[in-house]
Amino acid sequence: MDIVRLENVSKVYVTGKVKYPALRNVSISFPKGRFIAVMGPSGSGKSTLLNLIGGLDRPTEGKIISCGRNLEELTSDELAEYRNEKIGFVFQFFNLIGYLNVLENVMLPMAIRGVNEREGREKAMNILRILGLEDKVKKKPNELSGGERQRVAIARALVNDPELILADEPTGNIDSVNAKIIMGIFRKLVDEKGMTIIMVTHNIELSRFCDMVVRLRDGVIENVEEVSEL
Ligand SMILES: Nc1ncnc2c1ncn2[C@@H]1O[C@H](COP(=O)(O)OP(=O)(O)O)[C@@H](O)[C@H]1O
Ligand SMILES: [Mg+2]
Repeated sequence: MDIVRLENVSKVYVTGKVKYPALRNVSISFPKGRFIAVMGPSGSGKSTLLNLIGGLDRPTEGKIISCGRNLEELTSDELAEYRNEKIGFVFQFFNLIGYLNVLENVMLPMAIRGVNEREGREKAMNILRILGLEDKVKKKPNELSGGERQRVAIARALVNDPELILADEPTGNIDSVNAKIIMGIFRKLVDEKGMTIIMVTHNIELSRFCDMVVRLRDGVIENVEEVSEL
């Protein structure tokens, strides 16, 4: 079964009089319950692809079906709800909120969804424990290492039980030892929880943790490789 399907998707950015086609007529399906790597040179459209799937932006043309929804048919409020409830985002620069501590950062998506505070706290603590961060809950992001910050961001991505995790160069700012720890966490989420993860990475070594590798070039899919049997 597919969790995401793109049909003839194009994205053209317009700045002034210049049009830049970041994605050109892309059609692809992503299977559910797999760990998928998206690779390609800088500027090839990787982040654009992830942002469109995550409903952070809309395509110029084409159709995206994700988690059973046709994104085109959603109002901007519905799209925000889709992002909050179905998608967990993990970014290269962590995007944690500096004045909130670890626990508060992780509780935030649940607060937005209207989960009561006690329940939210319990859930956040559970996930932080699983990720080995139970003794960091009162710390602010700037008191943590890069690897720890990214684990906090992963905890935050997980609290609303998303169907899909979208990770844009999640190890771009952390050392290789911590990068492998993050890959181990992702692998476990896919194998044990049936999660689907689409991860943009530059690192060929990390793509070996994945089940499928999608290569982009100049906004076009160049190659799809299934690493393990699907
Ligand atoms: N908001 C934007 N406005 C104008 N051009 C953009 C915007 N976002 C991305 N681009 C351009 O689209 C192309 C693809 O960008 P992106 O998807 O970020 O590539 P990647 O993540 O593979 O490096 C790049 O050439 C980039 O400059
Ligand atoms: Mg990018």
